[in-house]
Amino acid sequence: MIPPKPPSRPDRVSLWRYAKLFRQDILSAQPARLYRAWMAEFRTPFFRSYLLNQPHLVKTVLKDRPRDFPKSDRIGAGLRPLLGESVFLTNGATWERQRRIIDPAFEGGRLGDTWAPMWAAGQEAVARLRMRTGTPVEIEAETSHAAADVIFRTLFSIPIEDEMAQAVFHEFRAYQRSQPILNLAAFLPKLSLLPRFFRRDTKASAARIRALITEMTARRQAEIAAGTAPDDLATKIMTTPDPETGETFSASEMVDQVAIFFLAGHETSASALAWALYLLATHPDWQMRVADEARALTGAASDMGRLKVSRDVFREALRLYPPVPMMVREASCPERFRDRDVPKGAQLVLSPWHLHRHERLWNNPDGFDPARWGTENGKTCAREAFIPFSAGRRVCTGAGFAMVEGPLLLSLIVRAFEITPAGGPPPVPVAHLTVRSRDGIHLVLKSRDQGKSEV
Ligand code: HEM
Repeated sequence: MIPPKPPSRPDRVSLWRYAKLFRQDILSAQPARLYRAWMAEFRTPFFRSYLLNQPHLVKTVLKDRPRDFPKSDRIGAGLRPLLGESVFLTNGATWERQRRIIDPAFEGGRLGDTWAPMWAAGQEAVARLRMRTGTPVEIEAETSHAAADVIFRTLFSIPIEDEMAQAVFHEFRAYQRSQPILNLAAFLPKLSLLPRFFRRDTKASAARIRALITEMTARRQAEIAAGTAPDDLATKIMTTPDPETGETFSASEMVDQVAIFFLAGHETSASALAWALYLLATHPDWQMRVADEARALTGAASDMGRLKVSRDVFREALRLYPPVPMMVREASCPERFRDRDVPKGAQLVLSPWHLHRHERLWNNPDGFDPARWGTENGKTCAREAFIPFSAGRRVCTGAGFAMVEGPLLLSLIVRAFEITPAGGPPPVPVAHLTVRSRDGIHLVLKSRDQGKSEV
């Protein structure tokens, strides 16, 4: 069974129709030829953008010459009210300084410390789901809850039941609903020409989230000063000095960074986990293999190395449904790509969505096959055509974190429950802030043997 893929639009449509399709969904607004193209040009009366869909072009932009292709300012337009000067939006020296402070908290060695809070969040998710067995569950809402719990526990050592965590979580939901597609701006004329594009409540919601996060970081600052702060990601980031200047983040900069950790860290993981569960619900053979592997989990951090099948399944979910389906960069000087002139200022679109399903690169590009990662084709593509976390120096800070969190939560849920689709039409992937199902993902969970399923 081929997992759901959005329909493509006809090759030629009017600009007006394209804009309309785009407003509905960035994925189905594209023609099918992009799954075979190495490069494509979007020409409109206002601007030009280029899709780069060939491994060596992607490598040039992300790995070889990232300084020449900064993040496009247009992306910030919708997100700045929430994210301020967060590492997700900055460029140049500011970005470099921010990464010098943030990266040590996410290094391999430190990640061991996040295992226990992730495990605890996984157990809580299983307990919540146990109350819902036997009737259809909209699983994206559940995975959002679980991923937000992981972020609160690892960053601030508080569970999602905490009053303030609850408030932030609910505000983020409102924000997500009011925010159109993250990278949409790259395809549109300057946003100032479209005053009604961003809804008014987006800004109000952003302000409420920032007020809550300001309070959380202020509290933590006081705990650090008093010597009573827990040793978690927030404390680590707030106390790490920039090795070059010796300065730590200012209070307002820390609010910006916390905001992006919540946003980038929970919506993405939640999306991938929901799709992974759907893929397992529709592929019982792989579900069985994940459940078998998960029986050996003990709760110790050494379990991390045991999650092999689960990891392959999670990677396959990231390939088929990359939570960040497209990224945008700007050409800071004129370029020539594939015999085409790319003017300075052009928007360059890198599309994990299309690259991960490229028909000239992948065997069985639209099929679900976690075993592919052990094949020659899978290994080559993993290196050259698999960028769910981006690549190069601007790669996702949380990539290592997410590759522990995702397989762990998947394993804990599948160890506890047998999962089947709820019936009805298959989910339709659409790009919101992340790749979601248009009408949710509905699954039915049945408890597996209780005695074996709990540690
Ligand atoms: C499955 C889960 C995740 C996926 C697929 C994902 C994907 C990505 C991608 C594609 C980017 C680059 C965006 C761009 O360049 O336009 C990114 C950036 C980022 N992600 Fe993640 N992410 C995930 C989880 C996380 C987690 C758990 C955290 C933190 C706890 C995190 C924090 C960040 C930050 C801070 C950036 C900005 C990095 C920079 O620009 O220097 N992400 N992520």
